[in-house]
Formats: sequence, C-alpha cells, structure tokens
Amino acid sequence: MVATFVVSEITRLHGQVHSWAGTFARPSVRRYRPPVPTTIRPITGDELAAWFAASGTAFYVWANDPHAMAEFRRPTIEIDRAIGAFEDGTIVGTFRSFATRLTLPGGGRIPVNAVSAVTVRPTHRRQGILTRMISDDTRRAAARGDAASILIAAEWPIYGRFGYGPATWQAKWTLRTRAATVKTGPIGRVEVVDRLAARQVIPAIYDAYAAGQPGEIERIDRRWDGDLGIEDAPGRPRWNGQVAIHRDDAGTPDGYVRFHGEEHWDDMVPDHRLIIDELHGATLAAEIDLWRHLAQMDLTASIEGEVRREHEPIKWHLSDPRAARVTGVADFLWVRVLDVPRVLAERTYERDGALVLEVTDQVEGAAGPAAGRYRLEVTGGAATCEPTTASPDLTIDVRHLSAAVLGGTRVMDTTRGGGAVEHRAGALANADRLFRTIEEPWCTTWF
Ligand SMILES: CC(C)(COP(=O)(O)OP(=O)(O)OC[C@H]1O[C@@H](n2cnc3c(N)ncnc32)[C@H](O)[C@@H]1OP(=O)(O)O)[C@@H](O)C(=O)NCCC(=O)NCCS
Repeated sequence: MVATFVVSEITRLHGQVHSWAGTFARPSVRRYRPPVPTTIRPITGDELAAWFAASGTAFYVWANDPHAMAEFRRPTIEIDRAIGAFEDGTIVGTFRSFATRLTLPGGGRIPVNAVSAVTVRPTHRRQGILTRMISDDTRRAAARGDAASILIAAEWPIYGRFGYGPATWQAKWTLRTRAATVKTGPIGRVEVVDRLAARQVIPAIYDAYAAGQPGEIERIDRRWDGDLGIEDAPGRPRWNGQVAIHRDDAGTPDGYVRFHGEEHWDDMVPDHRLIIDELHGATLAAEIDLWRHLAQMDLTASIEGEVRREHEPIKWHLSDPRAARVTGVADFLWVRVLDVPRVLAERTYERDGALVLEVTDQVEGAAGPAAGRYRLEVTGGAATCEPTTASPDLTIDVRHLSAAVLGGTRVMDTTRGGGAVEHRAGALANADRLFRTIEEPWCTTWF
C-alpha cells in the first residue's frame, strides 16, 4: 500500500515538471507547481482512508496508517463535515469541523464550530487552498447558526487573517514537592481508582467542571477510552498512567487527576517526576485536595503540569509559594466570533458600561458574518448587544474582538500592532476593562 502510494506520488510530480515549465517566467512565485483549480467538497465514507493519507503528508511526525485510522474514526467522524480539496481526483487538502459547546464567562454555553485536521499537501502550499477551505467553513458555520468557530493553531501566523484570535492561554507549571506543603486541610477524600472504574465517573465530573469553566468545551464520550488508555488510536502510544478521584463530604465524585511518572534516581535518592495529564475539580476545594494528594506522593521530587492556568490557585495554598513556578506560557484556544450580538450578550461582565463597536470582518473580499456596528450595553453584569446606526466609539477587527471575548486576552494587548481605531478618547481602555475577567478562561481539550 505504502509503495503504491509513493509511486503514484512520484508520477504526479513528474507530470508537474512539464506544466511548471510553461509558467516558470512568473516572478515572485515560490511554488512547487502552478495553481490549478481544486474542488472543495465533503468527502464520502469511501474516501476516508485517502483523506487520512492526505493529512498524513502534512502531519508527518505521527505514524500514519490511513486505513486503520479511517476505521478507528469512522464511528464518530461527522463525514459531511470532513472536507477535502481535490485536484484531479487526488485529495490535496483536508479540513474537518464538529459541533460542540463553548462555556462563556458567567456559564452561558454557545454552539460552536470546532475546526481540526487542517492540512494542505506540502506540494500544494501557498496556493490559497486553506483560504478556500476555511472561507467556505466560516460561511457554512454562520449559516448553520453557530455563534463562533474555534481551533488550536499549530502556528501563530496562520489564522489571524481568517478572523481568529488567541482567547485562552496555557501555562507550564513545576512544583517542587519537597519544598512546600499544602497549608489548607482536606475537604472530602481522594481515592485511587483503576481505569475502568474511572471511566464510569470521570466524564460526569468533567462535564460539571466544563459547565462552569469559561473557555472549556464539551467532549464526546468516546474520547475517554483513549484518555484513560482503554483503547489506543492507530499510531499513537497508549496512555499508561494513574487516576485518582476526589469525593466531597457527601461522597459525590467532584474531581479527578490523570497523571503518569518519569523515573529518575540520583545516587539512590528517588527524584521521580510526576506529570499531570489533567487535573480538574468541579469545585476549587476538590482541585486543591487533588494537588495535595500529588504533593504527598513518595519518591517524587517534582510535579509538572502543562496546559494549566497562568494563575494557578494551588500556588497560594502552599506553605512556600516559591516552590511552584510557571516555566512557560503559550496560547491555546483560538476563537472566531461569527454572531457578535449572541456572543457578547450571552457572556457576563464584571463592570457596567456601554460601547458602540464597529467590527470589521472580511471573508474572501466580501463582508464576513461578524461585520457590522453594534451597541453593547452592560448593566449589573448582564449585557444587551444589538445592531445600531449610532456613531462608533471603537472600530475593531474581528480577530481582536475574538481574542478578547472570553476575558483572557486584553483588548489593549491584542490591538498593540494595529487592528483598532478609537473614535472617542478612552474607548480602547473602556473596551479593555469591559471584556477582561478576574478568573482566566481555560481550555484543556486538545482537538
Ligand atoms: C497551514 C497550511 C494548512 C496552510 O495552507 P495553505 O494552503 O498553504 O494556505 P494558503 O495558501 O491559503 O495561505 C493563505 C495565507 O496565509 C499564509 N500562511 C499560511 N500558512 C502559514 C504559516 N504556516 N505561516 C505563515 N503564514 C502562513 C500564506 O502565506 C498566505 O498569505 P498570503 O495570502 O499573504 O500569501 C499548510 O501550510 C499546512 O498543511 N501546514 C502543515 C500542517 C499544519 O500546520 N496545519 C495547521 C494545523 S492547525
């Protein structure tokens, strides 16, 4: 199978040398081949393996068995939302979306279009194939009534031009367990459970946590089989760690941690590293109790957590807060607002105020779904947001509004390089204050 694939690829490349020659004189084009018309359409079930083969040409770091992957994913993939860019019957670009809900500040949940599997064959890059796929997707998502689109960007520069902005952030934490203890006493109890027992209770705990966590999304049930090492996706190592759950005083499960370890000995002193795969509590008390459980593990010198919040409450529960430190911060969830009135009215605010926003948004040269002028008015933390003809206080590009909409990216920061125009003095600072939230939004769900 692999050999056949490689040979057909070489044949195609030879074909391209001739067509290239005819257009070689074109200046400024750094392309492997000249642009040819591609058809962009949903794939059929029969094309799923070819679709995974195509995405494997861009996501080359993962082992790729397209047929095994197609069968593994067939039961859950929404095939009419798996898009292929076809050239002469060959898939040269892939793009997929699925429906989920995103939690907003205040706990409102909006339907969103989650984008994934974005690839263009290495030989077909920079010919506008992604532009066409993502522009189609934006129009379809808006027509469907999705309030926003979301994705995790492989590289920062790709998605801003399409209206996406970085809305949640992830921090890497290290806690030196021998340097500090958790000051506060336990509330409830921690229980070490096996994977199958965990499988029964963790999804509901996650749902309770995600419903109250701005920035977090719903997860499909099957995902837990992979996350708990009950099944493994083709080409990916099986998760092989430990699980503990937390129960409140009444015995109801309200928190969990999945973690694994790395062995390290230093002159017979055990200095193992404990790596948190995820740790969530439906309450802060549950979360802190689970940290305490980890911090008391024998043989352990440090706990490391990725995709944590920038401001972790555990730091302030330690006898020595210096024992916990952030070793890196990066963007995580990117949001693209589609329905401005809905998103702005469904989130809550921590300050009252009013603002007329002119939102600029273009999709392939035409007005995008977020384009328009809106009056946002916040009273007692609740907002109304409606189209208006009043003169604007602030013009802001959709990518910057999208970055700020969950309260985790400051309007002042995202617009530092441009993308906003003040029509009234202080409008930018006003927007900055309105959109920010004290608790940072947080997403921990890779997709
Ligand atoms: C990222 C990727 C899908 C882009 O596809 P593409 O078809 O080449 O994108 P387009 O031709 O539509 O690019 C549109 C514009 O975005 C820019 N752009 C696209 N990808 C970019 C990147 N990785 N870095 C910087 N700019 C990028 C292009 O230069 C182009 O700008 P221009 O119009 O000013 O020339 C493709 O390069 C790819 O498959 N990369 C590897 C896999 C990957 O990273 N996927 C994303 C997962 S989140």
